[in-house]
Amino acid sequence: MLLYIIDPDTKFRDELSARTHEALRQAGLKRVEVVEGDFSLLQGNHNTEEIACCFLGPGCYEQLEDAIGMFKGVFPDKPVALILDNDRYSTEAVELRRLVNIRIMPIADLAQMAGFILDCESQLGTAPGSKNRGIVSVVQLKGGVGTSTIAAGLAACWARHDLSVALVDFDDVNPQITDWGRVGSSQRRAMSEMLQQGEVPKYRINELAHPVEGFNGKLVVIGQPERYQESFHFKADILDGAPSAAVFVNSLLNVLRDEFDVVVIDTGRSWGVTTFSVLPLSQQVLLVTDDDGMSVRRTLDNLHRLTRESDDPSEFDLSKWSLVLNSYTGKLLSPKDLSIEIRELDLFPDTATLYTVPYSPLGRQWGGPGQSFYEMVDEGEKAGIRKIAFSIVPFKQEIEIPLVDKLRNKFQKLVTPPKTTAPPT
Ligand SMILES: Nc1ncnc2c1ncn2[C@@H]1O[C@H](COP(=O)(O)OP(=O)(O)O)[C@@H](O)[C@H]1O
Ligand SMILES: [Mg+2]
Repeated sequence: MLLYIIDPDTKFRDELSARTHEALRQAGLKRVEVVEGDFSLLQGNHNTEEIACCFLGPGCYEQLEDAIGMFKGVFPDKPVALILDNDRYSTEAVELRRLVNIRIMPIADLAQMAGFILDCESQLGTAPGSKNRGIVSVVQLKGGVGTSTIAAGLAACWARHDLSVALVDFDDVNPQITDWGRVGSSQRRAMSEMLQQGEVPKYRINELAHPVEGFNGKLVVIGQPERYQESFHFKADILDGAPSAAVFVNSLLNVLRDEFDVVVIDTGRSWGVTTFSVLPLSQQVLLVTDDDGMSVRRTLDNLHRLTRESDDPSEFDLSKWSLVLNSYTGKLLSPKDLSIEIRELDLFPDTATLYTVPYSPLGRQWGGPGQSFYEMVDEGEKAGIRKIAFSIVPFKQEIEIPLVDKLRNKFQKLVTPPKTTAPPT
């Protein structure tokens, strides 16, 4: 197996390489081969199956976000850790950990480095080809804020980057995703039938999943039943003789998890049995609010009320929640005001992420076949959505060569001794 060491600074890289070899020696890890270099290591062809993990060296610190982005853009599902020099580790690791979602260790800690490599090695056998990079639920606590827009837009973005995506419509009142995906009568009837049975047999998933036009089979919608009477079962158990919707949701998500890279769920306007069973099963929860003080306050107040009364800690594990400030104009509310408000509420952990999605007149018109918000918006807005999607579930992207160059230049700046100017005569 291969372990990559990436650091644009040769001095740091050599030091990290020596420490890594020592960690490998002490842990008796003989089968690990170390491959080291600067960011150009990410270009070209790789034997992906052989690569177990990567250490980003102390020299990546200056451009950490870019460095992680470049690595994840090439190896979306390989584990990566940042190794810092000891001083920087002791002063900055906690703060950095809030900003980037990777393991951070000090270069002195051989045991931690070896432990990380061992874990990666043991995952190597199971990782290739395995599905399930995440169940992402998109929730709201105040109607009409853009939940369906964000859910479909993110799903489309992942599908355009070659991940297979199931977009699940759990909105019983306003099955907009079902309509957008043009889910056919037969799938909606199959949904009624399986909902009544409380189970989705694995071999029948194709009867539910409707491929969305224009996505080359990469995006399917799981739609709502045709009759509201049946849809309502998703919120409160009302169908005679049917098991609870909680049982059905567990069964459905189990199958989807095995069959798709990403599962995106629009949990809909009303909260109920399904919403509460989806939350513990999600790796990420995006709480959408729109861009004015009143909406944000209502959303946060409602969240506060729900969390206070919940007796199941897995429902509101806010460490996996992020806030999406949608239709952002910059005129009504600044992200800074919002983060102050959130901090005052003392509900979210400090590591919580706040994403903003701009108001887009073009995006507003999404809904045509194959046209989600992501397809409609202009290039700059698209890049914004891509960034959000990437930070939730990374995907392969072209690494931007200018970025590599920029880092190289930076490195050159670091190593080029300052020109000595001749003293004035
Ligand atoms: N960022 C945005 N820019 C412009 N229009 C948006 C944006 N987000 C949502 N909309 C529009 O707002 C309306 C409500 O969005 P929708 O996703 O249906 O909300 P919800 O699912 O929360 O009820 C839709 O007409 C949608 O096109
Ligand atoms: Mg909706």
